[in-house]
Amino acid sequence: MAVNDQDLKTAAIEARKNAYCRYSGFSVGAAIVDDLGHLHVGCNIENASYPLGTCAETAAIAAMVQEGGKRIDRIAVIGGRGDATPCTPCGGCRQRINEFADENTIIITMDDSNEWRHYSIAELLPASFHLD
Ligand code: THU
Repeated sequence: MAVNDQDLKTAAIEARKNAYCRYSGFSVGAAIVDDLGHLHVGCNIENASYPLGTCAETAAIAAMVQEGGKRIDRIAVIGGRGDATPCTPCGGCRQRINEFADENTIIITMDDSNEWRHYSIAELLPASFHLD
């Protein structure tokens, strides 16, 4: 059955519960629907050596790629300390999303008013770096 936006948000909320964020206390979940309609999730995983921590979007993209997904159709991201607060993807994750995005890719996350919003990758990462 097709994964709708609500399913995707729910998957991100569930993934967030597994976040390993003992240093920041900021837990993040991400859920992707790929070009085949398959669902992939990830959470942030921190490390005592702080820079080695990885973001939820990075984990979800890794899951997508190793499970055969080629493109991000939609990605939902949710995070915060305790209750969810605005959590748009960080700069590095915007670039990682960009690698597997096109003009139809939708990024679903909470804006500064705590409202769910849809963004394109061009909105989040204008004039992006690419090699082709
Ligand atoms: N984090 C993510 O997982 N995704 C983002 O786009 C922003 C930040 C994580 C990294 C770190 O574990 C915690 O949130 C606080 O920065």
